[in-house]
Amino acid sequence: LIVAIDGYAACGKSTLAKALAKALDYRYIDSGAMYRAVTYFLLKNSIPLDDEPAVESVLKDIHIEFERIDGNNHTILNGEDIEEAIRSQRINQHVSLTAAIPSVRKKLVEQQQRIGQRNNLVMDGRDIGTVVFPHADVKIFMNADLDVRTRRRYLELTGLGFDISMDEVKRNLIERDRIDTTREDSPLIKAPDAVEIDTSGLSPEEQLNTAIKIINRIRE
Ligand code: CDP
Repeated sequence: LIVAIDGYAACGKSTLAKALAKALDYRYIDSGAMYRAVTYFLLKNSIPLDDEPAVESVLKDIHIEFERIDGNNHTILNGEDIEEAIRSQRINQHVSLTAAIPSVRKKLVEQQQRIGQRNNLVMDGRDIGTVVFPHADVKIFMNADLDVRTRRRYLELTGLGFDISMDEVKRNLIERDRIDTTREDSPLIKAPDAVEIDTSGLSPEEQLNTAIKIINRIRE
């Protein structure tokens, strides 16, 4: 079974996807981490994000894997654990530009589809139910109020030790949503057959229960 979860920035996708994968004993893949990893590589190597031929020429040097370390998913770029580095504000400010580049999307979508061939899977992102797995068994589209998303992401980032203001977080979420919904290649959009969950007033447990009900209904 493939469970595809899409939605706006910081609406709780990865929290739900992780909890679901645990409950179902499925593999969890954070597709956003892959776009973040490419962004990390491009910034580190001073490749201008608006120079598509330059970006394309280094894609072959980018190898992304996931490893389980102490029960948590870590993103590994060319052997280096970058799980924490890719959550920084510098990456937040550039990742949607990277994700709008067609050659980047093509590379990552191919890798995501390969992973989906051999696993029961929960994958979260922006185009999972529309482009990566248009035939996914279960599609969930998540959203939450901007202020709720801002507060949750602010707590998450300050908890990781990042020095950031609530206002900066909010502006970044608005900007990423704008770029992600208006780009030409695979914009963020609800698949016609996705079930929508508004998580604004729901605790993580309530979100998990809602998703499990949706999955059971589809399985029947
Ligand atoms: O967790 P959060 O909602 O902040 O973002 P994420 O899932 O880590 O994704 C970071 C960025 O990667 C998004 O803002 C998109 O620009 C891009 N992305 C995408 O284009 N397609 C995906 N399947 C996943 C992420």
